[in-house]
Amino acid sequence: DRSVKIAPSILSADFANFGQEIQAIEAEGADWVHVDVMDGHFVPNLTFGPAAVKAFRPHVKTVMDVHLMIAPVDPYIDAYADAGADVLTAHVEAGPHIHRTLQAIRAAGMKAGVALNPGTPAEAVAHLLDLTDLICVMTVNPGFGGQKFIDMTGKIATLRQMIGDRPVHIEIDGGVDPSTAPLVTKVGADVLVAGSAVFRGGSVDNPGVYGENIRAI
Ligand code: DX5
Ligand code: ZN
Repeated sequence: DRSVKIAPSILSADFANFGQEIQAIEAEGADWVHVDVMDGHFVPNLTFGPAAVKAFRPHVKTVMDVHLMIAPVDPYIDAYADAGADVLTAHVEAGPHIHRTLQAIRAAGMKAGVALNPGTPAEAVAHLLDLTDLICVMTVNPGFGGQKFIDMTGKIATLRQMIGDRPVHIEIDGGVDPSTAPLVTKVGADVLVAGSAVFRGGSVDNPGVYGENIRAI
């Protein structure tokens, strides 16, 4: 299904209120829920371990899309499967054996995603296309929400062409807002992660703003 999906990143949610925040964004039209896992090593920030992600699970009625910004990945695959991830995405830059990692993610019963930092070319996934369900193109250097969009439209177009008729999503992560979203969907992106552009101005007590923000994107 290549219709455009919006995946709000709960990195921009109220950290004291994840259950209600997830329910609010889903009620307001989120298609997926994006969970940014950071280890303070692969990226300069720390967020959610498997126990936190497992606690989110019962609140997510759509798709729990877990983006691992960690290295190494392989020792934690089973823990995030047990936590209930539907899609588990690992970075191609996170280690020398991304091919093995993607096989292990599928073997653990999840959809396998592979993410590319802005400095990494499309060709890095050329030999992974049959092992992956989603390619995440980072349009910021990962680690923090609210950064400025980096134009990766050339890379996205190349990836869409490389993918051909395979059922592989192209997800865009970083700086997606109403002005940048059309640039990336035009060249073949179909899953848009957005943190600050979804949560800004709203709250669980005023969730209609989330709906307005999602529709604006
Ligand atoms: C960046 C994260 C993104 C980010 C998106 O490290 O992977 O998901 O939080 O946030 P915005 O939409 O605010 O750029
Ligand atoms: Zn992310």
